[in-house]
Amino acid sequence: MKYDALFKRIKEKAKLVDEKMFELIPEKEPAVLYEAARHYPLAGGKRVRPFVVLTAAEAVGGDPSKALYPAVAIELIHNYSLVHDDIMDMDETRRGRPTVHKLWGINMAILAGDLLFSKAFEAISGADVDAEKKARILETIVRASNELCEGQAMDLEFEKRETVTIEEYMRMISGKTGALFEAAAKVGAIVGTENEEYIGSLARWGRNVGIAFQIWDDVLDLIADEKKLGKPVGSDIRKGKKTLIVAHFFERADERDRERFLRVFGKFAGDVRGRGIIEEDVKAEVMEAIELLKAYGSIDYAASYAKKLIREANESLKILPESEARKDLELLAEFIVERDH
Ligand code: IPE
Ligand code: IPE
Ligand code: MG
Ligand code: MG
Ligand code: MG
Repeated sequence: MKYDALFKRIKEKAKLVDEKMFELIPEKEPAVLYEAARHYPLAGGKRVRPFVVLTAAEAVGGDPSKALYPAVAIELIHNYSLVHDDIMDMDETRRGRPTVHKLWGINMAILAGDLLFSKAFEAISGADVDAEKKARILETIVRASNELCEGQAMDLEFEKRETVTIEEYMRMISGKTGALFEAAAKVGAIVGTENEEYIGSLARWGRNVGIAFQIWDDVLDLIADEKKLGKPVGSDIRKGKKTLIVAHFFERADERDRERFLRVFGKFAGDVRGRGIIEEDVKAEVMEAIELLKAYGSIDYAASYAKKLIREANESLKILPESEARKDLELLAEFIVERDH
């Protein structure tokens, strides 16, 4: 079908990335730390970001094998951010398995995240590029990590607020998710070319694709099949996460519907068992809240917005020569706003 060839190439590249990644995080003492750090990489994941690194290098005419370590670095940073994100979001499943903090406790999960983060820099140091390029790759990834933390901090701060503006939401997701996607595309381009226009256009593509990726992730949190998604559905409602969907709803809902929504929104963070609350009741209330978002067209609005961003993002690839790699990036961007997981 439309994505078959793309999926095949993602798989092929993921194999190369995993080989190098697991060399950096082997089975080792203290076993508990390394087991916890290997848990998400072993559990799967789409491996979209390292695919972007390798394919961006190819799309600018470079040798993707030189981008392998930078691709590993980006995937390691992504995995570190997931381990810490699941602690902050109090989520109990990820990639279809119990989360790291559920299995090893919060302290070991913090350390496992730290280790993955530190291993990312070990990966960068191994990159097969000249010193100048290596310094630029390092700077790009460091900046993205800084921004990721800033975005995550905004995400947490927004939980305490009743609502946020669309501009505030966009700034937050541009940091927490857009920055690492931008870095993935940019680092691949840096490896593959000296052409600054190419590097700039891939960086812009990555940022917009990352933003659309997060909007779609927020949509999936409401409407996906939990088994396919591998992480909890409705978690953002329980925690009171401010998304584009919620911002749209608050702009339009009447007083009564706002109140109905606010009875659930942000009221059931984490594990409700043992708090005198019945999980089945919470599930039913969350479903009602999602129905309200649907009734106001807020989910459709966000989905169309993400698709529009993807069309714009792919426009910025037009300055690159036509190639299979460029086509793959365009297709990947389209897949991101059609995916069900
Ligand atoms: C999840 O990322 C975190 C977000 C930025 C929304 P992915 O959806 O890429 O997670 P995996 O790697 O496929 O598990
Ligand atoms: C996470 O956003 C972004 C990062 C991990 C930096 P979410 O909190 O929405 O990601 P999921 O839904 O838990 O994967
Ligand atoms: Mg989360
Ligand atoms: Mg989060
Ligand atoms: Mg999410």
